[in-house]
Amino acid sequence: MLNIILLGPPGAGKGTQARKLVEERGMVQLSTGDMLRAARTSGTEMGKKVAEVMDKGQLVTDEIVIGLIEEQLKTVKANGFIFDGFPRTLPQADALGRLLARNGQKLNAVVEMRVDDEALVARITGRYTCGECGEVYHDTTKPTKVDGTCDECGSTNLKRRADDNEDSLRTRLMEYYKKTSPLIGYYYHQGDLFPIDGLAEIDKVSSQINGVIDHQN
Ligand code: AP5
Repeated sequence: MLNIILLGPPGAGKGTQARKLVEERGMVQLSTGDMLRAARTSGTEMGKKVAEVMDKGQLVTDEIVIGLIEEQLKTVKANGFIFDGFPRTLPQADALGRLLARNGQKLNAVVEMRVDDEALVARITGRYTCGECGEVYHDTTKPTKVDGTCDECGSTNLKRRADDNEDSLRTRLMEYYKKTSPLIGYYYHQGDLFPIDGLAEIDKVSSQINGVIDHQN
């Protein structure tokens, strides 16, 4: 059982790399962003509130996201979890430690994906995803092979996210630096932090992450 966190600002490549680990290592991706996007389409009062907060680029409450992760850890069987976009605050990090310990598990590594702000803006503004299978693309660095058609599942339902605009991205970056970046010190002191160069090409980032994971075995 191997549990890792992919930690990094919006657009660092967490989702892209999590999907590769699922494919290559059979681990399970737990993305609070994906869970919240599913909640917002549910039409419930909670879903409406979540949509408003996400579109502004702010963080959803700790209570809601911790509840989502707790539910997944209770119900999903896996030989390892990739936490993608969680934890994002110190209370979330404490909660994750407690939830894993309660299940007799531990955190093996926190991969800090380092990317500068200029690259993040270019990545976020060029991103689109497949609405059916979730594959992530980019206008210039990873376009679909056939224009308008997903390489993985053949769907033509390709979408851009409502929060992928410059205003919302500015808030998302501020939220990251104020509330999430303190986790770098938190995990460094626990001895779990592994910084990597997130600016490298997708396959090179992937090799670095695999190197960290192999080092845990
Ligand atoms: P979330 O969905 O987690 O978004 P995020 O953290 O802003 O991260 P992104 O999904 O934008 O980027 P990513 O790092 O996954 O990059 P990707 O691989 O797509 O959260 C959204 C919102 O939900 C938050 O703002 C908040 O409101 C709420 N939320 C979620 N979790 C929460 C929590 N725990 N607590 C409170 N609120 C929470 O890559 C980006 C682009 O770059 C793609 O186009 C990709 O093709 C390209 N790319 C990737 N890697 C490379 C590379 N190496 N070289 C070139 N291009 C690359």
